[in-house]
Amino acid sequence: MQKIDEAVTKPFLKWPGGKRWLAQTIAKFLQPRLQGQYFEPFLGGGAVFFALHPTRATLSDINSDLVNVYRRVRDQPVKVLAHLKRIPVTSKEYYSVRTSNPACKIKQAAQFLYLNRTAFGGIYRLNKEGQFNVPYGGGDRTPTPLWRDNLITSGSKTLQGVALKISDFEPMVDMAVKGDAVYCDPTYTVAHENNGFVRYNERNFSWSDQERLAAAALRAYKRGALVIVSNAYHPSIRKLYSEFTARRFTRKSLVSASADARRTVHEYLLILDPQK
Ligand SMILES: C[S@@+](CC[C@H](N)C(=O)[O-])C[C@H]1O[C@@H](n2cnc3c(N)ncnc32)[C@H](O)[C@@H]1O
Repeated sequence: MQKIDEAVTKPFLKWPGGKRWLAQTIAKFLQPRLQGQYFEPFLGGGAVFFALHPTRATLSDINSDLVNVYRRVRDQPVKVLAHLKRIPVTSKEYYSVRTSNPACKIKQAAQFLYLNRTAFGGIYRLNKEGQFNVPYGGGDRTPTPLWRDNLITSGSKTLQGVALKISDFEPMVDMAVKGDAVYCDPTYTVAHENNGFVRYNERNFSWSDQERLAAAALRAYKRGALVIVSNAYHPSIRKLYSEFTARRFTRKSLVSASADARRTVHEYLLILDPQK
């Protein structure tokens, strides 16, 4: 069993929709059950990976810029920090960094981390041309915690020996075998909905992707892997994952700046545990 050490568990990326709020719960469930390799094929900010920090892991995401950040932090944290510290935090500099197109992988990683820490709301959004188009955040948004709180250096230590792949989730889930554990946190989509939120997401992760994921998760379970999928609390999801044990989790979501505008949001954790 691996020890959960708070000092090395903080993700270095702010990832909207990330699982920081549920990461310790998922990690505590996985910890005693994980015997082989850990897979996280929708990496984003990697909250569950950092909470678990397993000895053998394959982390992946379809976003190549994101995976480059993890690779550079793993292999060249000092150089990444040196580049990052040199960039002034001003509106003018932000827009200049946002439109720059560095050829060097280390500078690309520094650019990503800088924008992640200074963009409005920490949002990651690309326009149709694939360019990052979030406005400057201002206020107290700054990359300083990345070195002040040792997020890059501790993140780099946690990433040593970890495989980092640019990939669609399916070939990664298909690698999991008996004793392995897979945690999937896809972009949420539900079937037969026509509100704006779902339409927006459909461009990124369609309902047929959801069906592909459910089928791949079931195949991994049949090979003996433990599989957990986070998903929207919605009847179409419950139906799609009818063979999974479903647990409902609740969190407070801030929908506006005022405190009384907080609302309760439910999510599913869908679990297939071969040891049960
Ligand atoms: C909700 S985020 C994951 C957040 C993460 N669990 C965290 O704690 O920060 C979903 C991630 O899935 C990635 N993604 C979307 N479609 C994908 C696909 N088909 N295959 C692999 N990754 C995908 C996105 O790039 C994004 O990083």
